[in-house]
Formats: sequence, structure tokens, C-alpha cells
Amino acid sequence: MAQRQTDGSAGDANYGVIGRTYTDYRQPEPRIAQMIERALGPARSILNVGAGAGSYEPIGRAVTAVEPSASMRAQRPRHLALAIDAVAEHLPFADGQFDAAMATFTVHQWSDLERGLAGMRRVTRGPVVILTCDPALVQAFWLNDYAPDVLATEARRYPTLDRIAAALGGRQGARVEVLPVPIPLDCRDGFNEAYYGRPETLLDEGARLACSAWSFVDAATAAGYVDHLRQDLADGAWDRRFGALRQQPSYDGSLRLIVASP
Ligand SMILES: C[S@@+](CC[C@H](N)C(=O)[O-])C[C@H]1O[C@@H](n2cnc3c(N)ncnc32)[C@H](O)[C@@H]1O
Repeated sequence: MAQRQTDGSAGDANYGVIGRTYTDYRQPEPRIAQMIERALGPARSILNVGAGAGSYEPIGRAVTAVEPSASMRAQRPRHLALAIDAVAEHLPFADGQFDAAMATFTVHQWSDLERGLAGMRRVTRGPVVILTCDPALVQAFWLNDYAPDVLATEARRYPTLDRIAAALGGRQGARVEVLPVPIPLDCRDGFNEAYYGRPETLLDEGARLACSAWSFVDAATAAGYVDHLRQDLADGAWDRRFGALRQQPSYDGSLRLIVASP
């Protein structure tokens, strides 16, 4: 397993450094939350792995949250259950303990994807629901013209959807559905593609920090990327190429919901 950082972070990103203002920029987007709720079905007990500050945890059900980073656990709102300090690769639960399980924006950070997903399958009787990005589509986003190393990092980190499906039993006959997740123009959850029609937001360092891929690019390179975007926004070059996106109600990017039924 990967070495844990001082705040407990167990994945490839250090949330003790980049995560302190996570919830200022990353709130659950209600239209995405609705898709997740639907995928969880009538489950009463739900496991959330890599739960962070609790985005997308359904209200009114018994949620058990697992989160290794103390900085992220500290940002959980009071109405959510405290999160357990554990990692996906070693889930401390009995076989079939939960009706359903979920993991949002996290599988790409785990040190052992197959082990983590097998653990989720083991402890869950019903659906396992994964919100993630398709690495084959990540670099199709306009940000690739400005911050190529950031999107190359994302494309490299996100596991292929086939690999996720296989780890959840797709090759053994389990039903695995992959649903495209439309991103609304005013998306409240600030991942890179959420800003497809609001490019100025990516000039804000806090917004960039809340997307962990930016932390893998050195400061001088990132500053150059941001200057290029700032310049193109100032002289209208961005708008000439992509300005129609400012009015586009939703964007079909790389975001996908994987729903694996046993
Ligand atoms: C981008 S955040 C997503 C948090 C939350 N699920 C959300 O949708 O906002 C990724 C989270 O995965 C957690 N994480 C990274 N590696 C992990 C692992 N091996 N096991 C469990 N969680 C992990 C991080 O600590 C971080 O809180």
C-alpha cells in the first residue's frame, strides 16, 4: 500500500496540502446526486469509500463513510456521520454488511484499484456505484489546449472503465452499466470540466487546487498555463473558439457513473 502522508492521505494526492479548502469549491451537484441516489436504489445501509467531506452521501439512510485524510474528514458537515479512518484497500467490514456502496472521484487515487473494488464488492449485497472519468475522453476538453500536462496527468491516473467493470465482476457475469453524466453549466462541484462554460474560474488558484491533477504539475508550468488562459480570455481568443459554451446548458464530457449489480 502507498505510504500514508502526515494527515493520513493514502492515495497519490496529499490532501493535507491541497485539501484544506476543498469544500469551498467542491460541493455536491444536485443533478449528479440524483443520478447516484437512483443508482443506489432502495438501499438502507450504504458504504461511501474515499468519502472526503461527504459529497453525494444520501440523507436519511445509514451511511458509513471511509476517509483516510484527516483534513478531508474535518470538512464533513455536522449533519453527516463521522468518517472512519481507513483505506479502500483494507475495508474493515464483514462480508455483505451493506445494501449498497459508492465511491465518487476517488478510485483514480487508490494504490491498488483491484483490491479496493474487490473489497467494496465483498462487503456489499447490492449495487456498487462509482463516479469517475473515462480516461479516453479526458483530453478532449478545451483545457487540454491550455494545460496539457494537467489533463495528461488525469488521463494517466483514471483507470479505464473496462478495468473498473472487470474488477466489479463484469467478466464473471455481473451486470455493469456505464452511464454518461451530463455536467450542468452552473455545476456546484468544481472539477475541471465543471468550468466548461465559466473559464475565468480556473484563474482562481483555489479552484485549481481542488482538482488534484494540478498538484502534479510544477508551479512554474502551471503559472504559464494560467497566463495563457488569462491572455486568451482578455483578448477574446478563448471566446472566438469556445464562447458558445458559455450558453450551453450542459456538457457531455468524460464523467461517467458505473453501476455494478451482483
Ligand atoms: C477528490 S476527493 C473526493 C472526495 C469525495 N468522494 C467527493 O466526491 O467529493 C478524493 C478522496 O479520495 C480519498 N482517497 C485517496 N486514496 C484513498 C484510498 N486508498 N482509500 C480511500 N480513500 C482514498 C482522498 O483522501 C480524498 O478524500
